[in-house]
Amino acid sequence: MKKSHTVVKCSPFHLTPLLALWSFIPLCVCTPVWLHKFHCNINLLMLMLLPILSAFTGGVSFIRPAAAFRLRMTQTLSHSNSHSNSHSNSNSRLFSTSTPPTKPPPSPIFVTTPIYYVNGPPHIGHAYTTLAADVLSRYHRLSGNPSVLLQSGTDEHGLKVSTTAASLGLGEKEFVDGVSDKFRGLLAALQVEGSADSSQVTATDKDKDKNKDKLEFVRTTDDDHKACVSAVWKALSAKGLIYKGVYSGWYAVRDECFYNEGELVDGLAPTGAEVVWTEKEESYFFKLSEFEGRLLELYERNGGAFVRPASRLNEVKAFVKGGLNDLSVSRTSFDWGVKVPGDESHVVYVWIDALANYLTKVGYPNVENDKFQKFWPPKCQIVGKDILRFHAVYWPALLMALDLELPERVFAHGWWTVNGEKMSKSVGNVVDPFELIGKFGVDRVRWFLMSEVGFGGDGDYSEKMLVRKTNTALSNSYGNLVQRSLNMVYKNCEGGRFPEVVFYSDSDSDSDSSSELTENDVKLLDAVQNLVTDTHSFIEKQELHKYVHELEDVVRMANVYVEEEAPFKLKKTDFRRMEVVLRVLGEVIRGVSIVMLPVVPDGATKVLDMLGVGEEERCFRCVGEACLGGRAVQKPVGVYMRIDEIEEE
Ligand code: MSP
Repeated sequence: MKKSHTVVKCSPFHLTPLLALWSFIPLCVCTPVWLHKFHCNINLLMLMLLPILSAFTGGVSFIRPAAAFRLRMTQTLSHSNSHSNSHSNSNSRLFSTSTPPTKPPPSPIFVTTPIYYVNGPPHIGHAYTTLAADVLSRYHRLSGNPSVLLQSGTDEHGLKVSTTAASLGLGEKEFVDGVSDKFRGLLAALQVEGSADSSQVTATDKDKDKNKDKLEFVRTTDDDHKACVSAVWKALSAKGLIYKGVYSGWYAVRDECFYNEGELVDGLAPTGAEVVWTEKEESYFFKLSEFEGRLLELYERNGGAFVRPASRLNEVKAFVKGGLNDLSVSRTSFDWGVKVPGDESHVVYVWIDALANYLTKVGYPNVENDKFQKFWPPKCQIVGKDILRFHAVYWPALLMALDLELPERVFAHGWWTVNGEKMSKSVGNVVDPFELIGKFGVDRVRWFLMSEVGFGGDGDYSEKMLVRKTNTALSNSYGNLVQRSLNMVYKNCEGGRFPEVVFYSDSDSDSDSSSELTENDVKLLDAVQNLVTDTHSFIEKQELHKYVHELEDVVRMANVYVEEEAPFKLKKTDFRRMEVVLRVLGEVIRGVSIVMLPVVPDGATKVLDMLGVGEEERCFRCVGEACLGGRAVQKPVGVYMRIDEIEEE
């Protein structure tokens, strides 16, 4: 049994104090002379100061990650692990220093999807918005935030729903109940975290407890939502921001949107939807025009953070600069909606009804309640580009009117076409996400949708590409890496256990003599550690595609490592080196699988189970903490078996 080692690794990071000292002495002596001589050359002064600064900040970032990983690799987990092996001593804290300062808990995070229209069943466009929100939420939870709330739901009022229900010979409520259930079911099919609880029948008590406060599902026909809409209306009314008038203009039922004459393109809405002329319908109006100045000021001051991607901000600004009319916010021509408080002949305009959904589950108008205090305002609201105007213009104006804080960010993603064509019922090319998941498994759908296009841009879906891309990334690359590495451990290492390996030297000196790692090992381990930093910045910018691409790069690197190190050959020539290589691979697969969890929770969970990584070790903090020494690997089973590629037509 190996003894515990205290480690200090000699690295550029540790040289920085020396460098600082080296430059400080001449600096003190020479600066006054030099400044005079070189006419206060400030660049030169900065050059001198750099090593000092780096000593205080812990090294400049391009040399720090490697060192950081090496140190962290020694800090194996101190908490108990039900899967770990009792005879292993490698799980004690090898690198023990003073207790780290306790960080303040991270602020709670509220992420939302739009609420989906129920006039048709869910398709991959809807699945896409929801998935993006789930990836973000899962990421924040794995990063150690215990309070991350994702909200989705269904938008069930409006003329379109009313006519669709009638055409099917159903009552409105009966109709919306059926479709809303499908959208709720989609959350579970997509494995949105917390959705196990939404199917009340199958969820165990443990699941329900675990998923508490992770997911909310709003329905606009529910009483809590209707009460919220009424409260919003009353608050706006009380501030004198709603008045009664007469509306004449163009209305697109498909978009549930009013358009100005100047916005029409060849007699259609800019979205291509048919418009109908509404002649002098009595309507209540919201004084949107009063918010023009404040909105423009918001875009100037904070637009780059509020609306993403940045390219979309211009279209929002241009719309507002073009002048804002007051918004017609009630209808009298149908009654499937929330009644206007105090005037039952009107129903609230479907978009006011819909936008209020974001306030429903946090308990508006009771802004003093815990949930509101905890989660408001949303950190990120994911919407499709088609509904950005509602979220970046009407929505902030409403919140300003209600004196509520604005969301930190509204992110507009692009649209999916199918084999180059717009998805539509009439063309018959609507892609059913349930079918897709049934055929290829949820992870392939998640991986493909998240990686195929830059998040924010448009994408084209084809089954052929889904199969090809996921075969490459998940079967050939990740699945293969897992399969061959774990098989070798299972078959060759004693008891099928990951070997104990000395990652570091055993003295407090700068000597590296007893570390068993080679430069090649460290390079790969560092790439895994860098994933943690890089993916954090991708998530902050909602660059979900980059998150997935970097994972692909590291897995590719790991496969190259297997070829270079050839553990199957080492088995005969250098058994100990084979053990080291397999342990390194184990830690790499563990780290990569943790980072993969937000994207492909199903397969990554199976792999972490095979490695014996306990639930409490599945977190970003644990990625760089080598902990597998002495643990027995479960008999490896294939993840992501290749699917036959679909032939060209
Ligand atoms: N009910 C409104 C939203 C109200 S939120 C206060 C609505 N519903 S929707 O069902 O039409 O669209 C919901 C989301 O699905 C939007 O973000 C939309 O962009 C997205 N998608 C619908 N079709 C899509 C594609 N073909 N591709 C990608 N996303 C698309 O609008």
